[in-house]
Amino acid sequence: MKENSKKTRPIWLDEDLKVIKIIDQRRLPHEFVIEDLKTVDDVIMAIKEMYVRGAPLIGATAAYGVYLAALNSPGTTISKDYLKKECGRIKSARPTAVNLIWAADRVLSKILEVKNARKVIDIAKEEAEKIADEESDNCRKIGEHGLKLIEEISRNKKGKTVNILTHCNAGWLACVEYGTATAPIYAAFDTGIDVHVWVDETRPLNQGARLTAWELGEYGVKHTVITDNAGGHLMQHGMVDMVIVGTDRTTYTGDVANKIGTYLKALAAKDNNIPFYVALPSSTFDWSLQNGINEIPIEKRDPDEIRYIQGLDNNTIRSVLVPPPKSHVANYAFDVTPARLVTGFITERGICKATENDIKRLFPEKRQAKMTA
Ligand code: MRU
Repeated sequence: MKENSKKTRPIWLDEDLKVIKIIDQRRLPHEFVIEDLKTVDDVIMAIKEMYVRGAPLIGATAAYGVYLAALNSPGTTISKDYLKKECGRIKSARPTAVNLIWAADRVLSKILEVKNARKVIDIAKEEAEKIADEESDNCRKIGEHGLKLIEEISRNKKGKTVNILTHCNAGWLACVEYGTATAPIYAAFDTGIDVHVWVDETRPLNQGARLTAWELGEYGVKHTVITDNAGGHLMQHGMVDMVIVGTDRTTYTGDVANKIGTYLKALAAKDNNIPFYVALPSSTFDWSLQNGINEIPIEKRDPDEIRYIQGLDNNTIRSVLVPPPKSHVANYAFDVTPARLVTGFITERGICKATENDIKRLFPEKRQAKMTA
């Protein structure tokens, strides 16, 4: 490790205000490398290639991307068409996480009508910084609300270990700070609750085995990495008290898109009467979509992410081929868990059921029938 990761955000604006600094998540946990993003093309590449990943962080990166677009605008004025075009390019970097569209549009809406170029740049910077700070604060509040659920389980178990299963990485690396799914876990750990996390390895890119396990280990939280298919068995044997996952896009009716395999965990949890919670900031709700299975775009990624597995060999990160080279491979990156399988949402405003009514009880300003994301 080149640096202590504990207090670092996965993204920040450099002191010279011209460069966005990110942690290259592709290389964790074996190498801690910080990269510079200087242009919109750099931002798009970092999102596409998953140097940065996780819905809230993708949003923050997109917001800084719109700032870089303004900063690097050719000429002395900044045209609306240019800003819209650059914002559009950023928004198409990845399809599933709605935070990307939400954050880019939020910055754009603040600057589109501003005439003075200096002001455009300043406002874009302020808004991007605000989004990163707000996401951090939202995750802290998600931790406070989710803590109550873990406290209750701990009380019912008379202080015995609370076992929580999570999928992918919905930790601080994915979210600016605290994480979504991990925020209640960190909060429980901080209050002295005996907590242990089952970490799904999360093939093909192993965000669980690489990133969640690393984060939890750095914080001192007990955890065990398991194969993606182990959860059902553990649930049948009383070894899981609750599941908490993050999400990339959740409809206003409560359907949840998250990393591929989440749906199967939700099915197993339902069959075993285990609470299945989804932790998310309001930026991850898509207020325009009603039916997650039919309407949420599911990313299909490069089949080579499945063909090759990456790990450390003699202090060098290497990739090795797994299936026969000629076998057809399909890489679906997300799935949708229907609302009926979700026990509840943990948001910055509190906990609600996975129903339109209860979601809108927490977010009454979204009560109009159909809205844009
Ligand atoms: O493909 P990724 O690594 O960007 O997928 C991330 C996830 O699926 C996370 O669970 C989700 O973004 C929630 S992050 C708080």
